[in-house]
Amino acid sequence: MKTATLRLTPDDAGLDRAAAILRDGGRVAFPTETVYGLGADARNDRAVAGIFAAKNRPRFNPLIVHVSDLAAVADLAGLSDIAHRLARAFWPGPMTLVLPLASDTGLSALVTAGHDSVAVRVPAAPIARALLARFAGPVAAPSANPSGRISPTTAAHVLDGLDGLIEAVLDGGPCAVGVESTILDLTGPPRMLRPGGLSSEHIEDVLGTKLVLTDPENPARPKAPGQLRSHYAPGALLRLNALAAQQGEVLLGFGQVAGASENLSPSGDLIEASANLFAALHRLDATRADVIAVSPIPETGLGRAINDRLRRAAAPRQ
Ligand code: TXA
Ligand code: MG
Repeated sequence: MKTATLRLTPDDAGLDRAAAILRDGGRVAFPTETVYGLGADARNDRAVAGIFAAKNRPRFNPLIVHVSDLAAVADLAGLSDIAHRLARAFWPGPMTLVLPLASDTGLSALVTAGHDSVAVRVPAAPIARALLARFAGPVAAPSANPSGRISPTTAAHVLDGLDGLIEAVLDGGPCAVGVESTILDLTGPPRMLRPGGLSSEHIEDVLGTKLVLTDPENPARPKAPGQLRSHYAPGALLRLNALAAQQGEVLLGFGQVAGASENLSPSGDLIEASANLFAALHRLDATRADVIAVSPIPETGLGRAINDRLRRAAAPRQ
């Protein structure tokens, strides 16, 4: 069903309108510091179903619930000592915790996909926080892209994939971090389900122990569907660790490389590269090149999240 998608400016009027749409069971895409999320009232089954419909997302994928502070998290989930420590250190920010679901949360079962755990995040971006404050309830929000496509880091990316399928997008310009949140499963010994905008080194500093990493090449148990190998696919094929573009390829560079059509960070800065990643892939994909060759990215800090996304985008298509 076609819907006219409003493009809202994130001023008082725009934020009020966005919160009203959420209260009415509509879908609003909004910027977080990681990527744009496609938000809906997490307590409203029909609204949450509307997210799956717009994204054409397989039903069994649970969604991240966004709230404004730790007190709101405690209404939804059990918080262990470790969860408290991580929350104090990294919220608001690009970290999602999978926690034991509390009883009588009022959350739609579609949000948790019927599991007894829930993924929660307190985002830091001012527009996300302003929207959560006005709505004053939990907002379920996956990345605001059609299922299987790369995550949007601008309002234009959102409209590329979802124009006419959602009620509104709050245009807050480009996202600062540019890759999705790091997901930690705390329902057992801490495990990283998805590398992301918060590096594992920072988390390990707070935990005082090494994180158990799930190997993205060989997930024993693909608990987060974001781990499925071809989840972040552009239309073009990707060739990784490329030193130069070959015939028919465009080069996505990193560091000092010649002949790059786009460069994630000419100075080799991984934070800058993360912020540019999805936008650069979107632009190169729009050139309709058959193959995007990508410079080597160091496997440290945010480089791990970048490489994880690139490996998935390069994986054989399902
Ligand atoms: O940065 C982000 O995390 C963005 C912004 C909008 O917050 N959101 C995002 O959501 O990337 P999404 O739905 O595209 O990815 C969420 C991942 C999925 O792979 C999902 O399967 C996993 O989180 N997930 C959600 N709930 C879970 C749960 N209870 N247990 C395990 N994994 C869960
Ligand atoms: Mg996603």
